[in-house]
Amino acid sequence: MKKWLTLLLTSVLSIGVLSACGASGEKTNSEGETKKVLKMGTSADYAPFEYIDTAKGNEIIGFDVDLAKMITKELGYELEIVDMDFNGLIPALQAGKVDFVLAGMTPTEERKKNADFSDVYYVAKNMIVAKKGSGIKTVEDLKGKTVGVQLGSIQEGEAKKLAKTIDMKIESRNRIPELIQEILSGRFDAAIIEDTVAKGYIQNNKEKLEGHTIPTNEEEAGYAIAFPKGSKLTEEFNKVLKEKIAKGEVDKLIQKWFDQK
Ligand code: ARG
Repeated sequence: MKKWLTLLLTSVLSIGVLSACGASGEKTNSEGETKKVLKMGTSADYAPFEYIDTAKGNEIIGFDVDLAKMITKELGYELEIVDMDFNGLIPALQAGKVDFVLAGMTPTEERKKNADFSDVYYVAKNMIVAKKGSGIKTVEDLKGKTVGVQLGSIQEGEAKKLAKTIDMKIESRNRIPELIQEILSGRFDAAIIEDTVAKGYIQNNKEKLEGHTIPTNEEEAGYAIAFPKGSKLTEEFNKVLKEKIAKGEVDKLIQKWFDQK
């Protein structure tokens, strides 16, 4: 009995060790070609960029996923997606657990200290989401309110900046749906979420939620692909990204994912 347990434990452990062993591996496909596997880190709480549509299955889908597929295919890599909290993405890059991050991530000066970034492929604005009829429309209206933001996001940074002049309480959560739940249940008065993503939640809760875009620092609103510092993938990916943007293929993805609502 004890022996079996030890055996079981060792095999569980070695599986754990194997999968923890660096980001890249190799995989042989049905045609017998061996391709290098790249691991993409994301936080799949961000429709239409990365999310799971439980009605369709349990795969992570979205604009960022298609973009990753497009680029890795062109470069001859297999793609594997790893879901985690947004806050854990840069640490995962640094620890070599993932090869790149595609998660609607904004290349801020702070993040550039710990990661390299591709060109910007999308630009978003910040939006205040609140209960319908709450009267919360501008940042000034946040005075005396409890405001939710995603942990580790630039919206969290923005809220902290606002809180220096506007007296409000900031609450951070790991995942965007949690912010929405807290508003619906009345624990938060509002949340700051990027417009493209916020609109989807508002659409799904038309009777209950409303949103208003707020002034957004343009330089810090773009999305880019993140890589470990010094990774040679940055240039490889960026070259393909530039080509795809020039050929209008990224625009086609925007149409596919954003114009269907
Ligand atoms: N653009 C914002 C940032 O970089 C929010 C991104 C959140 N992404 C996500 N997949 N939840 O901080």
